[in-house]
Parts: sequence; structure tokens; C-alpha cells
Amino acid sequence: MAESWDKKSILHLVKNKFSGYAFVVVSNRQPYIHKISRGKIECTRGPGGVITALDPIMRELGGLWVCCGSGDADKLAAQNSKVKVPPYKPAYELKYLWLSKEENLGYYYGYSNQGLWPLSHLVFVKPEFNNSDWEIYKRVNKKFAENIYEEIRGKKTIVFVQDYHLALVGKYLKDMDPEIITLNFWHIPWPTYDVFRILPQRQELLEGLLSYDLLGFHIKYFCNNFFEAVSNEVEVKIDEENQLVVHKGHTSLVRGYPISVDFKGIEDSSEEEDVRGFADSLKEEFSLSDYKIIIGLDRIDYTKGIIERLKAIDNLIDRHPELKEKIVFIQMGEISRIHLTKYKHLNDEVNQLVEEVNFKHSQNYWKPIIFLRRHLNFKEVLAFYKIADICVVSSLHDGMNLVAKEFISSRKNDNGILVLSEFTGASRELKDALLVNPYHLEEMSEAIYNALTMDEEEMKKRMRKLRETVRENDIWKWIGSIISDIPQE
Ligand code: F6P
Repeated sequence: MAESWDKKSILHLVKNKFSGYAFVVVSNRQPYIHKISRGKIECTRGPGGVITALDPIMRELGGLWVCCGSGDADKLAAQNSKVKVPPYKPAYELKYLWLSKEENLGYYYGYSNQGLWPLSHLVFVKPEFNNSDWEIYKRVNKKFAENIYEEIRGKKTIVFVQDYHLALVGKYLKDMDPEIITLNFWHIPWPTYDVFRILPQRQELLEGLLSYDLLGFHIKYFCNNFFEAVSNEVEVKIDEENQLVVHKGHTSLVRGYPISVDFKGIEDSSEEEDVRGFADSLKEEFSLSDYKIIIGLDRIDYTKGIIERLKAIDNLIDRHPELKEKIVFIQMGEISRIHLTKYKHLNDEVNQLVEEVNFKHSQNYWKPIIFLRRHLNFKEVLAFYKIADICVVSSLHDGMNLVAKEFISSRKNDNGILVLSEFTGASRELKDALLVNPYHLEEMSEAIYNALTMDEEEMKKRMRKLRETVRENDIWKWIGSIISDIPQE
């Protein structure tokens, strides 16, 4: 395996190793969403780690991306369900799949997000599995496979499926044509066997995953958990040294590939004029000029430790009242999966806590927390990083966490401090962040205090090392390692 990959060497690899192959990415979430705004169709990049990582790759490699369409103007923007993106520089094609309400409820809200999501994240939210959701999950996975097959029939193709929503797509594709090369990257943690064994459909799910030619996880620990699950549940031969699993005569390579971001792309874009402009208007909009700024950026999800973060800010001001009117914590993030009760409750809890903490500590015109549920486009995200002195990532459990890596990539001047949960995959690489246990309130608030009072030399030293790590382990290394590992007959 080559140690360093960049855009050029990957294009070269694809051309040499896979000349004549079509490349298809598949995910539940769409990379670009069309909405009507002021009577016009507006196209923006979607949220989430899958998009952050794969959009730059697809813009370079081209090809087809198959995903669900959920924007109110997706149907209008697409002809025969297809549209070229991004709108300002079309580089690859999107094919939308339209799901019914029933399919959405059973497959996305039900089996994927009430079942597999809490099962895979150890955050003490009880997973719920019900058989009718599983039936719909399978039906939607099959629908994906059929829609992909329509596009690739008779062509040599690599199909790169993303995540837990689509575990069975590879199996359905192989049933249609065993020559299709299928890969899956599981973007969330894989639980320990003690946890995994409660899943009623565990054997069928594992067999589905074992039909992929390559199966990727963020870190070795998740691969080991997966090996333990298959060795307990399915008849397999495991070659741990080469990380191969043989099931019913088919071999899957199972490896850890720590996902990352487009370091250089983010670094360059962060210096652009419009990003500076957005940063200035953010500061103006919220009157932030006189404060040290602490930021958080997440989908509103119970795995992200948002409540813990807010409590840490409360505790910080309790212990250091001298910080009043000196700091502001600003949290941005999109509402997520709001039709599920757990998410509704989380949103209510967040509202209540923000209200309480602000009421308790506010003085004059100042309040410690600004909480906004707002979609930020890519440039606005970079502007948000730009205004920050400190970025807090306090996930209770997270496969990787790309906010941490994006923040680092955007800090060209080596300023800024990352406070990072030790329960993120990213913490295994980003040792120069201030690592915290988000369940330990005082530890979190102390880490934020340390960040606020850290001397410039140490801050820069830490950020330089963090940047070196992300620079060397960027998204091109991730995709390069995967492509170079693709088994070929
Ligand atoms: O990064 C992990 C992930 O589950 C992605 O698969 C997903 O797109 C993202 O988080 C956001 O979740 P959702 O698509 O449900 O909003």
C-alpha cells in the first residue's frame, strides 16, 4: 500500500488499475439538495460526514452518485431523476431515488435510526427493532440495488456503498451480477459483540455485509468487534493477519481506514474573500467582536454530547465568574431526525437548558450561549470556524468526527484550540487536542478553561502538530488506501 496519496496519484491509480470501470457512490443522504427559495431553485451541499468526505472525491473522479431525493425541488431540478452537481462547476451526476412515506418511516427513521444507530453508538439509548421496519429496510435496499443496476448493466463497475442504511445493497447487486466490485464503508462505530448480539436480524445483516468485496471501518477496534460478531454468528473462516473473512466461498477484505477531510481544499477555501465576509457578518450579526468565542457545530443528535457541552459552559462560569462578558459559546447545527421521539425530547431539553443557563448568568446585554438551528453551506461553515478561538467536540461516541478535522484544516495561522472527546475515532489520531471525557462535567469545563488561558506558544505548537497529522492523513489518503486495496480477480 502506498503511504501517501494525493489527487494526482489517485487519478493515476484509478486510470491504471481500473481503466474502463465506472465508479458509483451510493448513500442514503444526498450530497446536494434543491429547495425553493424566493421563487427560485437553490442547490446547497447536504450535512454529515459522508458528504464532507466524499463530495471532494467525486468532484475529482467524476461518476455517478445514487441517493435519496428529499428536497422540495429535487424533482424539479432533476431530469429523469438525474442532475449534474455541484451547480457552479458540474463534475459528477446525481441519481435520485424517491421513497414513499412508508418506506422513509420503516427504512430511515425505523430500522436505520431507531435500531442500527443507537445499537452502534454506546450512549445508553435503547435500540428498537421491529420486523416490519426490517422488511421495509430490505425492500428499500433492493430498490437501491435495482436503480444502480439499471445504470451499470453490462459495464465493469465499482460500487462504493456508504453506511448502515444500505448494508444489503452489495448482496442484491452480487445476486444480479457477481462481477460487480462492491465496497461498503461503515461510517459509524461497530459495537462490541455483547451489544451487537441483541439485534434480532444479526445473521442476515452480517451475511449481507459479508457479500461486499471490501468492508471498511474507521479504526481497527471496530474491525475487531466485527470479527468477533461474525465468528460468533456465521460460519466463516477468518484470516486475521490479512484481515480477510471467507463466507460461502466469497472473500471480504475488512480493514480500518480512518476517514478524513480535504485538508488543502479547506485550507485554501478558508482564505477566500467571501469566507472572510461571512465571518465578519457572523460577528456583526451576533455582536461577537469583544469576546473569546467558543464554538460547537453538530447535527442535533443525542450522540454528540450537546447537553454535556452546555452543562460544561454553565459549570465553567459557575467556577470562573470573571469570564462573564468575556466569552460566548455559540452552537450551530441542523435539526435532525425530528420525527423520532428521542430527537424531539433532545431538542426540548436543549431549549430548556440554554434558557436556564442564559437566565442564570446573563448580565447587561451579555448572555453566555447562542444556540442556532441553522443550515450552513460549506463557505459559511468555514467562516464559523474562522471566528472561533476554541472548538468543542464532545461526542459521547462517534465513529470519527470530521468537524474536528475540518476545524484543524481551516487554521492556516496555527491559532485555535480543539477540545475533543476521547470517545471519537478522531481522538486516536489527534493527540494534541485537549482530550476530555464528556461524561465528566468538571473535566470538560476545566479543559475549556485551560483552552481559554493557554499561552500562545503552546497553542500554536499543538495546532501545528494537529495540522501536520491531518495534512498527512487527509481524504486522499483514505480513498487512495481503499482504492489500492480493492481486490481484483
Ligand atoms: O456520518 C455518519 C452519518 O450517519 C451519515 O451516514 C449521515 O449522512 C450523517 O451521519 C447524518 O445523518 P442523517 O443523514 O440521518 O441526517
